[in-house]
Formats: sequence, C-alpha cells, structure tokens
Amino acid sequence: MTFSGRVLPKLWLRLATAAALLALASTTAGAQEDAATRANRALGRGINLGNALDAPLDASWALRLRGDDFDAIKQAGFNSVRLPVAFYLHTAAAAPYAIDPGFLARVDWAIDQALSRGLVVVLDNHHDVGMEKRPDENMARLVAVWTQLAQRYRSYPERLYFELLNEPSGALTDDEWANDAPALLSAVRMVDPQRTVVIGPAYWNSLDHLGALALPDSDRNIIVTFHYYVPLRFTHQGAGWMPGADKWKGTLWTGGAAEQATLDNDFNKAAQWALANRRPLYLGEFGAFQAADMESRARWTRAVAEAARRRGMSFAYWEFGSSFGAYDPAKLKWREPLLEALTGKGGGDAKP
Ligand code: BGC
Repeated sequence: MTFSGRVLPKLWLRLATAAALLALASTTAGAQEDAATRANRALGRGINLGNALDAPLDASWALRLRGDDFDAIKQAGFNSVRLPVAFYLHTAAAAPYAIDPGFLARVDWAIDQALSRGLVVVLDNHHDVGMEKRPDENMARLVAVWTQLAQRYRSYPERLYFELLNEPSGALTDDEWANDAPALLSAVRMVDPQRTVVIGPAYWNSLDHLGALALPDSDRNIIVTFHYYVPLRFTHQGAGWMPGADKWKGTLWTGGAAEQATLDNDFNKAAQWALANRRPLYLGEFGAFQAADMESRARWTRAVAEAARRRGMSFAYWEFGSSFGAYDPAKLKWREPLLEALTGKGGGDAKP
C-alpha cells in the first residue's frame, strides 16, 4: 500500500483518535482511583512502633523511642510507621476530656520524627479499655479525643493518617461498632474533611468481620485495616498474656501446602471484600512472638507480607523493637531474617 495524499491524513486521524482515547482512559482510571487508594499505596511497607506510647509510661516493658530508630526504619527501606498510642491513659475522666499536654508533646515528637524522614504515619488509638467494656459511657470521651487530635494536627501534612480504634473487641460487637465507627469518623470530618482515616472491623480487626463494617459510601478517604496472627498457636506461642500459650511452644511454620492454602484463602477473602466494596486494605498488624524459632518466624513473615503485597495491600509488621521485634534495641541492629522477610530482600519478593 502506498501513502497517497488521501490515506496519510486518514491514518494520522486514526492515530490521533487512538491516542486521545488512550489518554481519556488513563485520566478516567486516575479519577476513579480515590484518595484512600493513593494514600494506601504510600503506606507500602511499614512497621509498628509498638509497646512505646501504647504502654503505661512507667511500664518496665515500655520501649523508649529514639530519633535514631526512625533513621534505622527509613534506611532499612520502610515507607511508613504505625504509631500505637494509648490516649485513654492520658485523658481526663470528665468533660471536656482534655488530653494531657505533656503527653501530647511526646506524641508530637514521634510524629515529627517520622514525618521529617519522609515516612507516612498512622496515628493509632490503641487499647481503649473503657470502650471495650462500656461504649455507651465512653463514646463522649472518645469523640472529644478525636476532636482534639483532629484540631491539633489539622495543619499537618497529608502523610499523617488517623486510625480511630485498634482492635475493637469485648462490648464492641459488630452492631455496636457499626454505630460507633461512623460517629468517631464524623468527629474527625467536622474538623478535618481531608484527612485519611483508617478503620478496621470488630473482633480484634478480624478479616471475617469485614462484612459488618458500616462506612459512609460517599467518604472515599478511608483505608480499611485488618490484623493477621494465624495460626495463633504459632504466632503467640509462649506469649505471657495468652492463656495456654506456653503449651504451644515449639510450634513451627514450614510453609507447607496446607499452611500456604490457609493463608491464600484468608487473603483472597479479604481481597474479594475490598474489591466488592471499593476500599483499599492495610494489614495493620502481623507478627510472631520471640519464643518461636527464627527460621519459622522469617518464613511466615515473608509469606504473609507477600500475600498482602501481591493483592495490593499495604502492611505494618508488629513490631519494631519489643517482644516481636524485627529490631534489637540493645544491639542497635536489625534481626536480619525478619528485616529481609519484610523488605523483600534475600530472595522471594524482591520488588521495592
Ligand atoms: C497488642 C499487643 C500485642 C499484639 C499481638 C497488639 O494489638 O497491643 O499488646 O502484643 O497485638 O498480640
């Protein structure tokens, strides 16, 4: 075929039309990607700064965070930190439920340390014992807490996200949480309509309860979270706070076909919910206690991290420098097998 004077313009027209259609398709896809999906991608690989600001200040097991910890986390290749904070320990018992300013200064410090290193921060309201026992008596306090936090951090970068309540449990059944979560979200939205908010289901953020979450469909800046410690007799073997956990000591995780199938089924279930409900997922906690053997811990940690990443979920390992620690704060060194499992180095998932 020769390019006659008539064919050439037609060909250019077709090419230009195709290019325009392509551009339109990608803009539409971009527009369809909501704020939460973008925010979740920024979370990427993360780690929990657990047992620090969620511990009573005088607890012997409390981890004291240092500026260098944030350097170590950033340099290791993590994108984000989850900062569990037990606000209930530092809030006045009566209205207007003021949060202790001295304690808030410590929270500011930790957030600033993370943000100044380019990390994304999930400020997580951890262990609210009152809510777990008597939500009716404690909702006013928690609404006031979130109003204060939303006001305090309103001018902070969008890389700071809020997680309304860690692992709702006890009296916070599916039905109760379906009332309380939207009310807490509204308290934040009244002050800060733009902030990314993280919300997980009842029953300790179990993926089996995702279906009972009640979220306003019009709010597209919500990341949904769940926690994964399966099988519990492996991840919590020897954990002092878990009845009967001493008998589980010696349980291995070999990554055999049945173990891998359980993991895949669970994560497929979560991913299907996410797709059907158009909500991005954040695996906000997973980890194995120090009493488990290191090879099994590393294998399980890698398998879970990969199961999440393959399905487009972000994650945060539980936790940095305490009894599940990927980092040894006494030696100021990472536990390499766990770090490699989390960052995808040393084999397996090598993508950044
Ligand atoms: C709790 C920790 C516990 C971890 C694993 C967290 O949500 O706050 O105390 O070690 O889950 O069970």
